[in-house]
Amino acid sequence: MLRVALVCDSELDEHKKEMLESVRKALEKKFSVTVVPFNEDFMRKIKGFDIAFNMATGGGRDSRQVHVPAILDLLSVPYTAAPALAHAICIDKGVTKAVLMSHGISTAGFFVVHPGEKVPEDHGLNYPLIVKPLREGSSKGLRKESVVNDMDSLVKAVEWVHETFNEGALVEEFIEGTEVTVGLLEREDAVEVLPLLEIDFSGLPEGVERFYSDRVKNQGLDVYIKYIAPARLPEDLYKKVEEAARRAFKALGLRDYARMDFRIKDGRYYILDVNSLPLLVPEYSDITKMAKAAGMSYDDLVLSIIESAIRRYGL
Ligand SMILES: Nc1ncnc2c1ncn2[C@@H]1O[C@H](COP(=O)(O)OP(=O)(O)OP(=O)(O)O)[C@@H](O)[C@H]1O
Ligand SMILES: [Mg+2]
Repeated sequence: MLRVALVCDSELDEHKKEMLESVRKALEKKFSVTVVPFNEDFMRKIKGFDIAFNMATGGGRDSRQVHVPAILDLLSVPYTAAPALAHAICIDKGVTKAVLMSHGISTAGFFVVHPGEKVPEDHGLNYPLIVKPLREGSSKGLRKESVVNDMDSLVKAVEWVHETFNEGALVEEFIEGTEVTVGLLEREDAVEVLPLLEIDFSGLPEGVERFYSDRVKNQGLDVYIKYIAPARLPEDLYKKVEEAARRAFKALGLRDYARMDFRIKDGRYYILDVNSLPLLVPEYSDITKMAKAAGMSYDDLVLSIIESAIRRYGL
C-alpha cells in the first residue's frame, strides 16, 4: 500500500479542517495516510513517503503555495497538483493573463500599477473597470468600490489596493456578463472538464454588487447566489469555454486538477482568474459542486486527483 503524506498548512480555519478530514477519509480507502503539516520540521518529516497529497496554500506571503512543491522536488518526493513554477505564475494575475494572451486565450484588457507608480492617463481601456490586488485570492480586496467608471475613482481604488495590500493593482475591463467557473481533472490521456458551474448573482438584495466581492463570497451574502450546473450557455459557447480551459491548463503547466473563473459577454469568453490549487471543502468549494454534477462522489474526486499524480510518476 502506498504511503501518502497529506500535506496541509500548519494553521487551519474551520473550512480547511473539514477539508483535511474529508480528504484524509477519502484517501484512506486506498492508501496509508499520515497528515504532515508544513512547518519547520517539514523537510525532515516528509522523507520516505511514496507521494504527497498537497493541500498547503499558506507558506509565506508572496510565494504562498510555491514552497511545498519546490521542497518536494528538491527531495524527489512525488506530489499532487501543479509544480512550483505553475503556482508562481498563477499567484500573479498579471503574469497569468500575459501567458494566456500569448497563447491566444481570451482575457479582459488590463494593466498593472505597482506601488509608487501612477495610473496612466492614456490607458485606453473602456469603463467600467475593476481594480483588484495583483496577488490575492478568495475575493480579498474586492468591494463595491473596486468597480469604477471614471479616472478619479480609478485612482482612489488603485491607491486603496497599494495602501491596504502593499502590492500592485491589476486594472481590467469589467465584463458585465454571465459568470461561470470551470473545474478540470487530468485523466489518463486527456484533461476532463467538469460540468460548467454558472454563478447567478441576480437574487442578491437590491444595491449589492453583482459579482463575487469579499462580502458576497465570504460574509453571508452567498445564500442569495444560485449555482447552476451545467451552465446555461449556447452549445457552441459552452464548447469554446471548455476548449479554452483545457488550453489554459496546458499553457500554464497545471497538473491533476485546477479551477478557472470565466465571464461571458456578447458571445465571447474571458478568463478572469486561474486557481492552481483550489480548496476541496465538501459541498462548499465550487469544484466539489461540479464533481457532484458530473455524478462523482467527493471521495472519487479526491482519488482521481491522486491517481492522476500516481500515473504521472509511474508509481
Ligand atoms: N474583469 C472582471 N469582470 C467582471 N467581474 C470580475 C472581473 N474580475 C473579477 N470579477 C469578479 O470578482 C470575482 C473575484 O475575482 P477573481 O476571481 O479575479 O479574484 P480571486 O480573489 O482570485 O478569486 P478566487 O476566490 O477564485 O481566488 C470574480 O469571481 C467576479 O465575480
Ligand atoms: Mg476567482
